[in-house]
Amino acid sequence: MRQVSSILFKKDFVMLKRTHNCAQLRLDDAGAKVTLAGWVHSYRDHGNLVFIDLRDREGLTQIVFNPEMQPDVHKLARTARCEWVIAAEGVVQPRSEGMANPKLATGQIEIAAERLEVLNRSKTPPFEIDTADKTGEELRLINRYIDLRRPEMQSKLRTRHCVTTLVRDFFDKLGFWEIETPMLAKSTPEGARDFLVPSRLSKNCFYALPQSPQLFKQILMVSGVDKYFQIVRCFRDEDPRADRQAEFTQIDVEMSFVDSNDVIAVHSRLVARIWKQILDVDVPLPIRRMTYNDAMNDYGTDRPDLRFDMKLKDIYDLAKQSTFKVFTGTIDNGGIVKGLCATGGEKYSRSDIEKTLTSFAGDYGAKGLAWAKVKSEDGKLSLLGGCAKFFGEDLQQQLIERFNAKDGDLLLFVADSEEAANKALAPLRCKLARDLELYDPKLFEFVWIVDFPLFEWSQGEKRYDPLHHPFTSPVEEDLGKLETDPGNICSQAYDIVVNGSEIGGGSVRIHDPAVQQKVFDLLNISREQARQRFGFFLKALEYGAPPHGGIAFGLDRVVMLLTGTENIRDVIAFPKTQRGQCLLTDAPSEVDAKQLDELNLRMQKHSHAIEQETDEHK
Ligand code: AMO
Ligand code: AMP
Repeated sequence: MRQVSSILFKKDFVMLKRTHNCAQLRLDDAGAKVTLAGWVHSYRDHGNLVFIDLRDREGLTQIVFNPEMQPDVHKLARTARCEWVIAAEGVVQPRSEGMANPKLATGQIEIAAERLEVLNRSKTPPFEIDTADKTGEELRLINRYIDLRRPEMQSKLRTRHCVTTLVRDFFDKLGFWEIETPMLAKSTPEGARDFLVPSRLSKNCFYALPQSPQLFKQILMVSGVDKYFQIVRCFRDEDPRADRQAEFTQIDVEMSFVDSNDVIAVHSRLVARIWKQILDVDVPLPIRRMTYNDAMNDYGTDRPDLRFDMKLKDIYDLAKQSTFKVFTGTIDNGGIVKGLCATGGEKYSRSDIEKTLTSFAGDYGAKGLAWAKVKSEDGKLSLLGGCAKFFGEDLQQQLIERFNAKDGDLLLFVADSEEAANKALAPLRCKLARDLELYDPKLFEFVWIVDFPLFEWSQGEKRYDPLHHPFTSPVEEDLGKLETDPGNICSQAYDIVVNGSEIGGGSVRIHDPAVQQKVFDLLNISREQARQRFGFFLKALEYGAPPHGGIAFGLDRVVMLLTGTENIRDVIAFPKTQRGQCLLTDAPSEVDAKQLDELNLRMQKHSHAIEQETDEHK
């Protein structure tokens, strides 16, 4: 028989068969003959002994090569380099005295190698696995196959797999069916731009990639499916952000004969199950609910982070009586003054406040940031600095009381329209709490936001827009307002928010075609447009649509929270960059003329190129 160790590089067949993974062996296994396979994580050549830390997705095991036992094997081991793929057979032995590594699951043992097979060599990787978190993300994305070998990334992939497995099991046990809906579809309005796919067979016609399976899942209810779910890719051509990708995954659900309480109850249990199973965190049920109005008033956003209190307060009545022109002027122009109290905020210097905090608020549209510090003198609290001088003694006391402020706190105010003040104060509140370490970052605070308005008025477009999507049902009591007072209709929509992140949202749907038509009318969608875009759906509603409702969770965001990352790309195996590019494959890329021809498409010069050309001709 050929000596395995004498074969340096063998591509086509493998002689050593793996018996264990690299996280499996313990002291109890001492004496066993085993074979491990994986990547050379690191090697140390001590001249006589060679140590290789062998890595697979489960962990690391140390393999020791002794020249006195197997000179050939030892010689071959000396040639091994990082990220080479090897298989080694040997005997499990306790590590020698004082050499145990308590940080490693297999740290008590090592494998005394008897045979070694090099399954494949590797070029020197562009970055080291151990220090990859300090490597620029671009390089990691270009070489994603190496990046994904990192234990941190493998752990995120594993968590994602565990969540989808658990979700499938959860819904299966409740009698839901997983049904796939088309990717080549017709546009569904979720408020984003569509990705279009040209059709070769129907010239000049396009499919839209689904922004969500919304209409298909509703049609499945009309089809009598009763309970549907799908783990489904959605596509929205919007600029990617830290928690948003153009291509992302939803856990999409729809149920018949339910009201919003039923949907909320089932999905509260789902969330509790996920957090328990993945993190061993107990989510107390029922999850609290907060109305949209309360969320906006108290936190300035419908995605409140409830790990800390720091509620926003309207101080219109007190600001009106101050001598601060910025406040009184804004109020005279129909605006408001809203503020918050940062516990322990005295640690911000005047320049921190007037530069850093003001510029932070400015990034969110605030025209300025007024402030005052709360100080105790002779056992009495008063305001100091900033805009304090514009508030008389009595007004100062009322301000302190309104915020329940304490010695060492910092009050911050924005004067503007209510919408603009909320837009700036909501992120400022989160920044302050983070800077001042006002919460335990390991906490999870869940809340269902309910009682959303059905529509919001778009000042720019001078028309109503749906707050969720146009298939959301009004509460029954407000149906009459569709004709009389559309701006004040309460919808049957609900969002689930964790630590300030919206992880899911849904609603009870309209199942009456006449009501659906009325909503389209209010949204200024003409009968003809409605027929063209959603005719198939309106028709389906006319053939016995049951009352139904549902929800979709953002799977990527759920996994982000579970794995403690703020970067959505960390939980997607092959994500896109902020510019929508896949750096691994270099998509999107140009296509050849023949392909375009088949699709009846012709390239136009990019508008920049046209501009440049015109400039050159001037
Ligand atoms: P919605 O648009 O609120 O609802 O989406 C549901 C959830 O999907 C996640 N999500 C995203 N995650 C990553 N990147 C994105 N670009 C992105 N957009 C949304 C969010 C969000 O809460 N059809 C409705 C659901 C329904 O009514 O049943 C829908 O799509 O976590
Ligand atoms: P100014 O009169 O613009 O110099 O502003 C005086 C102070 O009021 C500065 O601290 C500004 O940051 C603050 N300020 C200005 N505009 C606003 C506003 N709209 N809301 C809150 N504070 C403001």
